[in-house]
Amino acid sequence: LVPTAHTAGLSSVIRKKLMGYVGFANLPNQVHRKSVRKGFQFTAMVVGESGLGKSTLINTLFNTTLYPPKEPISPAADRPKTVAIESIGADIEENGVRLHLTVVDTPGFGDFVNNDDSWKPIVENIESRFDSYLEQENRVNRTKIVDNRVHACLYFIQPTGHSLKQLDIEFMRRLHTKVNLIPIIAKSDTLTDEEVTEFKERILSDIAHHNIHIFQAPTYDNEDEETIAEAEEIAGKIPFAVVGSDRLVNTPDGRQVRGRAYPWGVVEVDNEEHCDFVKLRQMLVRTYMEELREYTNDVLYENWRTEKLLSMGVAQDSSVFKEINPAARLQEERVLHDTKLQKMEAEMKMVFQQKVQEKEAKLKQSEEELYARHKEMKDALEKQRADLEDKKRKIESGRPLTPEKSSTTRKKGFLRT
Ligand code: GTP
Repeated sequence: LVPTAHTAGLSSVIRKKLMGYVGFANLPNQVHRKSVRKGFQFTAMVVGESGLGKSTLINTLFNTTLYPPKEPISPAADRPKTVAIESIGADIEENGVRLHLTVVDTPGFGDFVNNDDSWKPIVENIESRFDSYLEQENRVNRTKIVDNRVHACLYFIQPTGHSLKQLDIEFMRRLHTKVNLIPIIAKSDTLTDEEVTEFKERILSDIAHHNIHIFQAPTYDNEDEETIAEAEEIAGKIPFAVVGSDRLVNTPDGRQVRGRAYPWGVVEVDNEEHCDFVKLRQMLVRTYMEELREYTNDVLYENWRTEKLLSMGVAQDSSVFKEINPAARLQEERVLHDTKLQKMEAEMKMVFQQKVQEKEAKLKQSEEELYARHKEMKDALEKQRADLEDKKRKIESGRPLTPEKSSTTRKKGFLRT
């Protein structure tokens, strides 16, 4: 065997032909077996206004009744006042491959008079899932990490035929750096083919205008033409105009298909000429589920994690030595801790000073008020005294009788009457 040129510090690799079968060609099979044994976890979030067919589409996508049929719509008073986050989990199996699927629903989104903050609880939920993953990674024992991160977010756009609403743009702007966004035109059977094409164009131009990043099927240089063509085909259908139905209907030519029956015909869910459901399933499940998981882990979570750690004051390791030297790490942590303490102390001092200043200002104000009231009362008393003096003077000058005499006279007068 000729070694690679690592020791010499060169990056070139010497290719060698093997003299016989060694066995590492079997590596993909080993990975396959292991993955099948472990099973897979996938979390999809569905967001969109009420009644756009979210539950129906999830049931259609995974070919199961994950969401039971809905009760009749309750009166507005019963509805939650904020966007709620609910998740449903299910273990599904196909040809021996197990998938633990979690669907996160967001009832209430876009259903209020004021929907300005509808995106907030959703961002918080996505971040808390990142938090939980980070916390598990930092544990001493991390053999059983549960991945609850949201791997894809299906955003349902109302089939208005116009363009994106402010609510849609705001949501996508806030979420596109935290989750793989997959925009969907809901209930596309309510639009004609031309309307769908024009609507898609307007949506894409809005998305580009607002620099929103939506998930695209990736292509790699060394991939075959077929895979590249498939990725292009999928990309060409975004935003997916879908039709959902978990019921079987009979077509005029006698077939039983999943679809929606109308007086004028049947819309088939799995027919690519009728809607983009097949392409959506290909993107989300058949071809790119692993890519969605990988992008979430390698890009979205990684960016969030870096930002989070930097904001907590954790500095990037500058040398490998620090990574492997626990003493250096301890020292670094101590410095960080001290800096944090100093920062907290300074903040506390500042708050204390601020409070003292506020108290002083309040005291000064009440002192001034007290002084003004005192002055007011003094002036009033002074005026009263002057009035009384004046009265006294008048009485003394006009009626020279002593007070005793005058009272006797009044008494006599009273007796006479
Ligand atoms: P909430 O749970 O209230 O948020 O509703 P949802 O978005 O989950 O909608 P759901 O799946 O309950 O569907 C609402 C209604 O729309 C049901 O009567 C469905 O049969 C119907 N529906 C679902 N998908 C489609 C579709 O693609 N086209 C049409 N025309 N109707 C649909």
